[in-house]
Amino acid sequence: MKGLILAGGKGTRLRPLTYTGAKQLVPVANKPVLFYAIEDLVDADIRDIGIVVGNTADQIMAAVGDGSRFGARVTYIQQDQPLGIAHGVKIAEPFIGRERFVLFLGDNFIRDGIVPLVDRFRAEDSHSLIILKWVPNPQDFGVAEVLGDRVVRLVEKPREPKSNLAVIGIYMFDHHVFQAVNAIKPSARGELEITETIQYLIDGGLKVAAPELTGWWIDTGKMEDMLEANRLILETFDTRVLGKVDADSRLDGKVVIERGAEVIRSVIRGPVIIGERTRIVDSFIGPFSSIYHDCLVTNSEVEHSIVLENSVIRDLDHRIADSLIGRNVEINRSPCKPKSYRLMLGDHSKVGLL
Ligand code: DAU
Repeated sequence: MKGLILAGGKGTRLRPLTYTGAKQLVPVANKPVLFYAIEDLVDADIRDIGIVVGNTADQIMAAVGDGSRFGARVTYIQQDQPLGIAHGVKIAEPFIGRERFVLFLGDNFIRDGIVPLVDRFRAEDSHSLIILKWVPNPQDFGVAEVLGDRVVRLVEKPREPKSNLAVIGIYMFDHHVFQAVNAIKPSARGELEITETIQYLIDGGLKVAAPELTGWWIDTGKMEDMLEANRLILETFDTRVLGKVDADSRLDGKVVIERGAEVIRSVIRGPVIIGERTRIVDSFIGPFSSIYHDCLVTNSEVEHSIVLENSVIRDLDHRIADSLIGRNVEINRSPCKPKSYRLMLGDHSKVGLL
């Protein structure tokens, strides 16, 4: 089997972070979300992986390389415009050929991996396997209508969902899918939809297995989802100190201090990960925080937050919580009069002031 990961698209829901960076590279517990997808495929012994890339191709290629460090061989497939998930499948046909494959949306995240699901597809004669998950907000996803153990209808983000069963962004197909993606027409939003692709297979009488996932899955498209994914992964970590922690500091609970990081006169209350070369000085880092590489947090308090690389948080009076802070961000106290907030925020930024 081969793997196909979609890592193009627009990332509008994670703006402003996605103005400058690929959404699939936003880290969860200090690892880009895309890497979890690659690792899940490799764990299922799928090592020949195509990655569909869009206008953030350079960043994705720089981060993933040829895939050898994951034990995979990666082929990049350029999608000139985000014309839909099924369009990504369509342009991957020369790469996939006649093999069966797993399609993995690069911002989807499944805690327990995909091995049992891939094993099931390998063992069965179905043409496709989709995975359903009960969600409270089905209108945000592709939704399945099920009759007995059969899916009869799939609708993309319906206003009035017929069930609470979302179709998660991990799918398995055989070569029949290419007939479907070549036959369907763009939807009202101008995309070739993956839901319509699968509907085409169902309508053609092909066998589409649809097990329900009991484990935990998340589409990391929004900030709250990133924070939730971060929380769940951090909880699975064990304490590991590769950097320096001085005698005046205290680590409580599960804390990972990555290589070259320094903790000075600070309290870190896990689960927390502190990235490479990051310095935490005279500060408190509270549960469920991931501070990425090359950051400085000094004389401040941060909890339940993700901070991306090279950012500085300095001398704050109040704790930062529930936040997603981008790359190269500086948060300081205003030194000069008049006493005021001084902000330089990108488009679509969100700030909660006290
Ligand atoms: O997360 C599951 C949901 O994913 C499904 O329930 C939906 O049926 C499915 O359409 C999809 O919905 P999203 O709105 O979340 O898709 P999004 O546009 O965020 O794209 C998902 C991934 O695919 C993302 O990593 C970007 C990539 N992509 C997307 C498009 C439209 C591409 O590489 N090229 C594209 O043209």
